[in-house]
Amino acid sequence: AADMGTDLAKTLLSEEEIARRLDEMAAEIDRDYAGEEILLVGVLNGAVMVMADLSRRLSTPLRMDWMAVSSYGSGTKSSGVVRILKDLNTDVHGKHILIAEDIIDSGLTLSWLVRNLSSREPASLKIATLLRKPDAAKVDVDVAYCGFDIPNEFVVGYGLDYDGRYRNLPFIGTLAPHVYGG
Ligand code: PRP
Ligand code: MN
Ligand code: MG
Repeated sequence: AADMGTDLAKTLLSEEEIARRLDEMAAEIDRDYAGEEILLVGVLNGAVMVMADLSRRLSTPLRMDWMAVSSYGSGTKSSGVVRILKDLNTDVHGKHILIAEDIIDSGLTLSWLVRNLSSREPASLKIATLLRKPDAAKVDVDVAYCGFDIPNEFVVGYGLDYDGRYRNLPFIGTLAPHVYGG
């Protein structure tokens, strides 16, 4: 069974570091969207923590909606072929969409999502992600708000999972090798 005490190799970002950065991101978003209403779109499941904690820091009026997507093809790596498991409940035409994500890894998920949502003719479309791995990028994604650029290591916590686990950790850490068979 998962043992959060020994499964983590190290803490990459503490709860406090995440909170401080979200404060800064929210202030920037509030400045940029002054006078507008945001449609905050969370990408299930990883974005749940970012959605909850970023949205609570915003004073810009907003609505929230969710999409669930799954990349299929081979193995655990994102293939870039994406299928919608749950679509938005909202008609986004003319709305200011701000996508909230936990992490941009290869960039394939978000690059697909941006194309998909753009075709629905929103008034604007921007991305807020807590984490980004520059060394893992396969496609360029234009990110308006990025919390942290991190090394290309397997990270969990704060929404991020390994095999569905560890999403509930309040901080972000790297997994100990024994967890994934090392
Ligand atoms: C993870 C993460 C991002 C995506 C990033 O989601 O939450 O959505 O992968 O990877 P990419 O940039 O290489 O496409 P995942 O598909 O694991 O689903 P989850 O959010 O339910 O964990
Ligand atoms: Mn995800
Ligand atoms: Mg995942």
